[in-house]
Amino acid sequence: MKFDTPATTNPIDQMKVVGQPIHRVDGELKTTGRAKYAYEWHDQSLNYAYGYPVGSAIAKGHVVAIDTSAALAAPGVLDVVTTLDVGDLKKGKFNTAKLFGGSEIQHYHQAIAVVVAETFEQARSAAALVKADYAATPGTYDLAAEIGNAEKPDESTEPDTAVGDFASAFAAAPVTVDERYHTPDQSHAMMEPHASIAAWKGDELTVWTSSQMIDWWRSDLARTLGIDKDKVHLMSPFIGGGFGGKLFLRADAVLAAFGAKAAGRPVKVALPRPFMMNNTTHRPATIQRIRIGAERDGRITAIGHESWSGDLPGGGPETAVMQTRLLYAGANRMTAMRLATLDLPEGNAMRAPGEAPGLMALEIAIDEIAEKLGMDPIQFRIVNDTDVDPEHPERPFSQRDLVGCLERGAERFGWDRRQPPGMRREGNWLIGLGVAAAFRNNLVEPSGARVRLAQDGTITVETDMTDIGTGSYTIIAQTAAEMMGVAVDKVSVQLGDSRFPVSSGSGGQFGANSATSGVYAACVKLREAVAARLGFNSSDIVFENGQVRSGNRAVPLAEAAGAEGLVGEDQMEWGDLTKTHQQSTFGAHFVEVGVDVATGETRIRRMLAVCAAGRILNPITARSQVIGAMTMGAGGALSEELAVDIRHGFFVNHDLAGYEVPVHADIPHQEVIFLDEADPYSSPMKAKGVGELGLCGVSAAIANAIYNATGVRVRHYPITMDKLLKGLPELA
Ligand code: MOS
Repeated sequence: MKFDTPATTNPIDQMKVVGQPIHRVDGELKTTGRAKYAYEWHDQSLNYAYGYPVGSAIAKGHVVAIDTSAALAAPGVLDVVTTLDVGDLKKGKFNTAKLFGGSEIQHYHQAIAVVVAETFEQARSAAALVKADYAATPGTYDLAAEIGNAEKPDESTEPDTAVGDFASAFAAAPVTVDERYHTPDQSHAMMEPHASIAAWKGDELTVWTSSQMIDWWRSDLARTLGIDKDKVHLMSPFIGGGFGGKLFLRADAVLAAFGAKAAGRPVKVALPRPFMMNNTTHRPATIQRIRIGAERDGRITAIGHESWSGDLPGGGPETAVMQTRLLYAGANRMTAMRLATLDLPEGNAMRAPGEAPGLMALEIAIDEIAEKLGMDPIQFRIVNDTDVDPEHPERPFSQRDLVGCLERGAERFGWDRRQPPGMRREGNWLIGLGVAAAFRNNLVEPSGARVRLAQDGTITVETDMTDIGTGSYTIIAQTAAEMMGVAVDKVSVQLGDSRFPVSSGSGGQFGANSATSGVYAACVKLREAVAARLGFNSSDIVFENGQVRSGNRAVPLAEAAGAEGLVGEDQMEWGDLTKTHQQSTFGAHFVEVGVDVATGETRIRRMLAVCAAGRILNPITARSQVIGAMTMGAGGALSEELAVDIRHGFFVNHDLAGYEVPVHADIPHQEVIFLDEADPYSSPMKAKGVGELGLCGVSAAIANAIYNATGVRVRHYPITMDKLLKGLPELA
């Protein structure tokens, strides 16, 4: 099915199941520990061995020799496979840095060997005995120092845009802001480490792994191993968080495949936590310059956003200027991205790549200029709202209610109680309120599914879509139940298996809308098959309460299935509606903080998100996405930072003790409101995504709240105590 005209009324609009607050269909499996994650296929009949990785101790250069003799002699060791043994391997299409193979070292903790042993402990112990000799070469590791060497990236990212005459308009503006903002390297730091089990049967490879994108991994694993894609079977039914860190094939799968081949047995490899920061990908640091010029009435006349980031050769920029092209009006505008070469581990997508760090900067700048104008920052955003893409005014937004989010949130949060900076105090706590706009584009990806109707009237959905904790199982069950007129408990959902039709996968907050649209398309096919089987005219057919009705005939769905059942399979493909209409999601984040006047310690007291993101397929799972994202934004504002060793080129704090993510005590109260929307341009589901939107703007809202509490403006994330201390008022 191709979606190329706006949706009209369809069975999803009944909203009997879709849109209902249904608890996760996989919740019981997860809470009882029966959901099998990648490392947990404890099928002892397969006689697993354990692989433990060895990572490069240098950031750049070559491995000259690897001495495995001590490791091979250690108790329980079955084999050691080194990067020199396997020779040069083809790099995955989606990987910037190679994962394994050959002598070249591109970053610290790049895998150089895997030790395979009878037990995990034996493998780990022997891994410490692998000795490598390196020839190190100098690298560049310091973004701030490399700004002058940064270059215009590949045109595919559209590095520069310009409309009107930014320079003149900015120079002429009566009120201006011109500031630089820093966002640090961040780690996905998901709960479940990257892990894979590989089992060979002849030349066929089965891998249980933890992947957001089954088909990308399958293609890239086959390519890396130099085997036919058809020989690879990949499974990833449950995933303990990804945030973009599991979009692309990682070393655990490659090492498990080589280890299993060497040992002649299935092998499990999990990346140890201390490997994850440097062996995998991360969100790259940015330095951003934002210039805004406005008239005294608050209208933006000039808006400019430049961003510098770094990556390994062949990588791309952190696209932090993207939202500035679309979020606010203004006749004269420019954006630019510049990319430096850094020999740190690979930078790549992390939840809302581009917009998340971009809004961390832009939404502070907006707060700053509103203050200079003496305007309420909400009013300033309303004055500068736009119904069209400001760079291409012929393109309207399909739907846009940023103003509604701001106004609804202001009322709900008690924004009228906000006072000027430093004016509200409770004992030792300086109290402040902050706001930021949220913005994230709505992407769509082709997505396929297969839906079976069985003789007992139950429905089974098969698609290689993944559920990374987002609720895919549940919203897919709801979609099929709505389409086929059955209760949600009559639907079984099978995900994350490369034998199923290729889906959108989970990324870019496109998964919910794209994958359910694929299921919608497959259900349309199944409905047609049911109609044909019963000899019904499919135009007046109604699927309801487990029955199929046409005219005055009603037949149980089970009867239509017959002994052999019926199958519908299709793929949703997308026409030009994302080109004719700018499709985006909007929100507003409100935060109240207390800052200790003596220590500079920040405590978040309340958070509110109001989202306008099309139809909400399930308010429970969507709310979970947003509160999780708000929590991530709290980490981004206050604590999360990969500390770069600019001498040796690696991230120093490579564990969860040094890389501090929020814990329960950091997050006292969160509320989420979804505005009632349905976007006919987005899909037959009329839905969009919220999983990334929920993060966009949060950290800036916290930064703005801290400013409102203290009068100290910090433009360098994370906002730690040391950055606040010297600006705090004298103790009374
Ligand atoms: Mo997302 S960063 O595309 O998982």
